[in-house]
Amino acid sequence: MNSPFTIRHYHQLASTNSIAMQLGMQGDPEYTVVICDEQTAGRGQRDTTWESEAGKNLTFSLLLRPFFIPSDQLFILSKAFSVAVCQALKNETQLPITIKWPNDIYVGDKKIAGTLLEHSFSGNRLICSVIGIGLNVNQVYFTSNAPNPTSIVIASGKTMDKEILLDAMLQSFYHCYECLRLGAAEKIEMPYLANLYRKDGYHPYQLPTGERFYAKIADVLNSGELVLEHNNGSKQLFAFKEVGIVL
Ligand code: BTN
Repeated sequence: MNSPFTIRHYHQLASTNSIAMQLGMQGDPEYTVVICDEQTAGRGQRDTTWESEAGKNLTFSLLLRPFFIPSDQLFILSKAFSVAVCQALKNETQLPITIKWPNDIYVGDKKIAGTLLEHSFSGNRLICSVIGIGLNVNQVYFTSNAPNPTSIVIASGKTMDKEILLDAMLQSFYHCYECLRLGAAEKIEMPYLANLYRKDGYHPYQLPTGERFYAKIADVLNSGELVLEHNNGSKQLFAFKEVGIVL
C-alpha cells in the first residue's frame, strides 16, 4: 500500500506543532507530517518547553482534519495517538511502555515521550488538529528540570534507528485513526485503558491545593477527564489541571 503520509522533513524548526498548524491553515492535506532534527522552541504542555538534543530524538507533528469527531470529544485523538505510539514502541523495543494520562508515554516510572494536541477553530467549526510528539530515543543526558526523563537508549541500552520507529508509529497511528473514522471508537478506548500507567489499584493523587488522596482509575472520558474512584466507591471527574498523579 502507498503511504498515506506526506513527510516534510526539516533540519531545524522552532516547533513542528506550530509549522504543522500553519500548513493546516494553508490547506495542506490530512496526514501531513512535519518532522525536524532540531527544534529551537519546542513546546510542551502548560506553557513548558520541550528539551530534545539535536539529531538524537524524534520530534514530529501530524496534521489531521477529524471532522467526524464531535468537538467536545476530540481527546479521543490523543487516545488514538497514545495507543498507536504505545503499541509501536512495545513492538520495536520490548520495553514496558504505558500511557500516562493525560499526555505522556512512560517506560516504568519515567517519561519517554510527551504529546501535544492542538486545534484550530473558526467559530464552532474545526479547521484542523495537530498532534505532536517528542520521543526521547538516543539522548543520554537531560539538562532541563523535567522531573523524570528517560530515553529508549537509557531504558534498553540500545541505540535505535529513528526511521524505523517513525515508520512503526505512523503505520500504527494510521490504523487507529481509520478505526475512529469508521466509528469503531472501542478499538481505541479498550487498549487505551488497558495500557494506562497505574491502571490497577489505588495510587496517590494530588490536588492543586496540595491535598493528597488515594484513588484508582475508573475511566478516561473522550472529553479528556480522568474518572477516579475513591475507596468508598464514589467516583469523581478531573480535568487536566485539576489533579496530578503523585510519582
Ligand atoms: C509535554 O510533555 O509537555 C508535551 C511535549 C510535546 C513536545 C512535542 S515535540 C514535537 C511537537 N512540537 C512541539 O513544539 N511540541 C511537540
